Amino acid sequence: MANNKPKNRVVPQHIAIVMDGNGRWAKAKYRPRLFGHHRGLETVREVVKTCNALGVKYLTLFAFSSENWRRPEDEVKGLMNLFMSALKKEAKSLAKNGVRLQLVGDLSAFSEKLQSKVEEVENLTAGGNGLRLLIAANYGGRWDILEAAKKLAEQYKNEGVKIDERAFSQSIATQGIPDPDLFIRTGGERRISNFLLWQLAYTELYFTDVLWPDFNKKELVLAINDFSQRQRRFGKTGDQIQKDKKDA
Ligand code: IPE
Ligand code: IPE
Ligand code: MG
Repeated sequence: MANNKPKNRVVPQHIAIVMDGNGRWAKAKYRPRLFGHHRGLETVREVVKTCNALGVKYLTLFAFSSENWRRPEDEVKGLMNLFMSALKKEAKSLAKNGVRLQLVGDLSAFSEKLQSKVEEVENLTAGGNGLRLLIAANYGGRWDILEAAKKLAEQYKNEGVKIDERAFSQSIATQGIPDPDLFIRTGGERRISNFLLWQLAYTELYFTDVLWPDFNKKELVLAINDFSQRQRRFGKTGDQIQKDKKDA
């Protein structure tokens, strides 16, 4: 059974998820797309709780991409309202469970009210020592890389800093956070859709047809069990990896 802990289960330190399929889930039920987003929030709750319980250290959820502004106005508005009400409703329980919230993305496009709410919840949960929950909102991988490039260009001009992978990793939105070990995309599409482009270089990719509102603890455990079977080589040979393991 999927919930049985296999002897060799490896819990990823950092999981990044493209939560996709809310709209299709609602459509299949002849309901408006926003109904799917509301149900999607319940999945977020379950996944956050499960990750926290399993000892995952970082969970990054793609909530709104820099391209999602192209959606119909009422859907965008509905998503912003949902975002606001979720922050209000969940803040206390996040803090209580030691979950530390952090937003990644260009928040300047959001209303002042939403921006200050985000700040408030980030401050309220800052002392948490459990899961670090990163919500990518108005985030785009290309935006992230461009912003880092601009920052580094400025520092190069002023201080002549060395531009290398380390400097780059310290200039992107997820600075200080290790790259994701496991990437999950629900909803059947096999693409990255401008999520963490720099950070996913060596991440294990997992795609499932399950729509986000139907994704649950069991599905998450299936993804983690699949991840546990992968051999991460980072450019080395399989034999080298076996030897490294023995020597460790
Ligand atoms: C993902 O579900 C949620 C957001 C992008 C905000 P979608 O809304 O993309 O659902 P589908 O892909 O249309 O089914
Ligand atoms: C990716 O889903 C963005 C989020 C889940 C927030 P989309 O539904 O926007 O992706 P595309 O348009 O199908 O690539
Ligand atoms: Mg979609």
